[in-house]
Formats: sequence, C-alpha cells, structure tokens
Amino acid sequence: MFNYDSVQPGSRDDYLDDLCQRVEQGMDEGLLPVEVFRDDAVFRAEMERIFARTWVFVGHTSEIPNKGDYMLRRIGLDKVIVTRDDSDKINVMLNHCRHRGTEVCHQDKGNARQFKCPYHGWTYRNNGDWLAAPHMADAYGGKLDAKEWGLLRAPNVDTIHGFIFAALSEDVPPLREHLGDTVWMMDAIFGLHPDGMKVLAEPERFIVKADWKSGAENFSGDAYHVSTAHLSAALAEFIPGVNQVSTHASGYDFGNGNSFIGHALPKLIAPMFAFWGYPEEYRKQFDLSKLDAAQIEMLETVPPTIGTIFPNMSFLRFPQPAVPGEMPIPFTSIRMWHPVSPGVMELWNYELEYAFLPEEFHRKAYMAGQFGFGSGGIFEQDDTAVWEGIAKVGNSPWSRAKGMKLHYQQKRSGADPEWKGKGEFHPSIYGEYCQEKFWRRWLKDMAEGKKAKQGAKGGAA
Ligand code: FES
Ligand SMILES: [Fe+2]
Repeated sequence: MFNYDSVQPGSRDDYLDDLCQRVEQGMDEGLLPVEVFRDDAVFRAEMERIFARTWVFVGHTSEIPNKGDYMLRRIGLDKVIVTRDDSDKINVMLNHCRHRGTEVCHQDKGNARQFKCPYHGWTYRNNGDWLAAPHMADAYGGKLDAKEWGLLRAPNVDTIHGFIFAALSEDVPPLREHLGDTVWMMDAIFGLHPDGMKVLAEPERFIVKADWKSGAENFSGDAYHVSTAHLSAALAEFIPGVNQVSTHASGYDFGNGNSFIGHALPKLIAPMFAFWGYPEEYRKQFDLSKLDAAQIEMLETVPPTIGTIFPNMSFLRFPQPAVPGEMPIPFTSIRMWHPVSPGVMELWNYELEYAFLPEEFHRKAYMAGQFGFGSGGIFEQDDTAVWEGIAKVGNSPWSRAKGMKLHYQQKRSGADPEWKGKGEFHPSIYGEYCQEKFWRRWLKDMAEGKKAKQGAKGGAA
C-alpha cells in the first residue's frame, strides 16, 4: 500500500518535531492535524517514546492468582510474559530468548516453574533468571554467567487495585505518584470491597483497523457521539433514551491524559441507579470507610461510567440488561488498546466484577458487558466502525495535501468551582476538555521521549 511517509521531506525527527508543533498549536485553537491517526513515523515514535517508557497497563492479578501462573501480554509491539514467581512476586519480562532471540513462551496462559526455549533449550526460572542450557560443559566449558543472561525484565512493575502496570524506563516516578489524582477515582471505582475485583473470563481480542488513540481518546471524554453512533440501541428499545445521554454527561479530569465521563444515572434513569445501580443487598456490603465525602456524593449522583488511563487502559461501568427486557445491572469492562501498526490496533476486552458478589451476578454482569461491548456487542460495533474511517483519512493523500485538521472547538462552560473532589469536574461534557488533556499528555510524552533518547545518545558518545 502506498504510504505518504516515503515522500515526507527531511528526517523523521524533523517531521515529528514539525507535526508535534502543529498538534500543540492546533490544540490551542481546537484543531488536530489528521495524520496523527495514521502515520509510520508517528507510530514508531509512539512505540519508542510512549509505550517503551511510561507506565503501561498489562493485566490484573486475579488472572495469575497462584505462584507459577503466567500470561502473555504486550507492551507496545513487544510480547511480554507476566508471571507470579515462586516467591509470589509479579514480573514482566520480554518474551525473547537471550541466546538467539526466539520467543520463549508460546502459550497464552498457564503455570510453570521454568520456561524452556524451543530453539536450543536455554531455560529460565519463572522470575526470568537464567537457569540452564543443554550440554553446558561441551558447549560453554561451564563459563556461562547466569547473572548476565536472564530474560530482559521491566525495571518497574507495580499494582493498584489488582491492576498490573509496568514501565520499561528506569526513569519513571512510582506508579501512585505517576497516577496522581487518578488514584482517587480508582479508589472510588475499584476499591469498594476489601476482597477486590476479579477478571471473569479471558480477555476477548479482536483486530480493529483503527488507531489505538481513537479508542483511548473516545473513552477519555466523548459522550457526544452516543446519540448518533449508538442510536440503534434506542431505536431497538434496548436502552431507551440513549440518545439523551450526552446531555446528562459530565467530565472528571485528573490531568496527565487520565479522565472519566460521568453520567447522572439517578436523574437520567431512576434514583436506584446511584452507585451504578448495584442492588441494595450488595451495596450494603461495600466498605465506604476509606472514601471521602466527595467520592461518595459522586457515586450517588454522577457515577463515573467511562474513562481512560493514558495510554492503553480504558474503563466502562454502567447498568445494562443482561438480555433485552431484564432489569439493568452494572457491568465492569476494562479494555486495552494495543497498537499493532499505523492505523491498526488489537482491542482486548475484559469483564471484571467485585469478587464477593455471587456467581449468578458475575454471570449476568458478564453477559451484560459482552452484549454491549463484546466484539459482537451492540455498542462495540458502532464504535469500531466509525474509528476505522479516521485511520483511513489519516493517510489520505488529499487530506494531507490540504493539511486537513479535525474539529475540537465545542463551546466551553468551564470547571465547577464548587467541586470538592480531586482533579476538575466539568458539569457538561461538551467542551472537549478531556480530549484536549489527552493530546497534551501525548505531546508531553513525545517531547520527553525524544529528549531521553537524545540524552541516551549523548551519554553513549
Ligand atoms: S534461541 Fe533460545 S536457546 Fe537458542
Ligand atoms: Fe461509543
């Protein structure tokens, strides 16, 4: 396929500098150069400057509950093995053998004390330490230094409410510091019961011919699309009134590209949809003692329903019927936006639920989530279909020749000055505040990543 990168003048860095400058200037004016959604140079830089540096979401501890459990995940373009080792520690390791580089582990999930490379048989412990090789004496004269040849390990791995994050750069702040005020929101969403949450089934995975940022940015603050893109849900009477949802939507912005959409569910549907509509018998079992008054008021009036934690983690929780006609119940879906190539992502979709809830509730919540946001879900297909168009125009010769920019200029009404919670609260979702913050974080990582690379080059010289 013809790609415009082959005719871009100047070096890749010059092109990216110019593009980032145009994005920055564009954001000041509410305009975004369309090529950010599909471009070889942008994609490569995102892999190096964002995914290979910052904290990235890789999974949940409930997926690997026992010592020796492992799962294959991705950080940008790299496949990684996430393990719970024999000492109960979680490790994130590059899934490539240090001998000749082939993939060490080929099974998505399992339990193992060791990983044996299928090529020549080098063997590693489940914490990544080098353990053994065949014919040690003959092949290496016993001179192979085990400490030198373990799998590459992410230097930073940490969890919050069971969500595992890893950062490949040494030079990152601790996870909670990095998340900042977003922790306040995560506590309110995921920290309501001491037993925590658990993943209900394997993440569903599907390829979407759209850029990873189309999904992440949409979840960060786009409630405006719901009344059009998801109108069929109202017409089919699956969710009556879905076309009115954006007028009852608000934005919670925690900076750093992390933001959430809230919906006034008790007002929009009925008072029982405070706390997303968890049935009273279960709500009574929530432990709210660690929440502040603003968190509790938020859950009672405008619970967060959708959100993004930059770059690759998004969240959904709102009431939906497991099958049409039934009472809506809340489901919780987490997704990973995995970049695959310019304008292509692999979307991973999970359903999670509070572990203490009965199995029947888990089953129904899973069905509700899949019915709406599984790969064949009524909403998911709407979203992915429209995002694919954005990737197409990102690489369009005509749009590039014209310097086409996308419109981020909705009327702004400002943050609520009375807001007592962390971050900012925007009573109206119109204004695209959250999307702007998403792009400013993207710019920040692109700039810092470039500086770090230059620093590393300087150091090497
Ligand atoms: S490539 Fe793994 S042992 Fe040779
Ligand atoms: Fe949507």
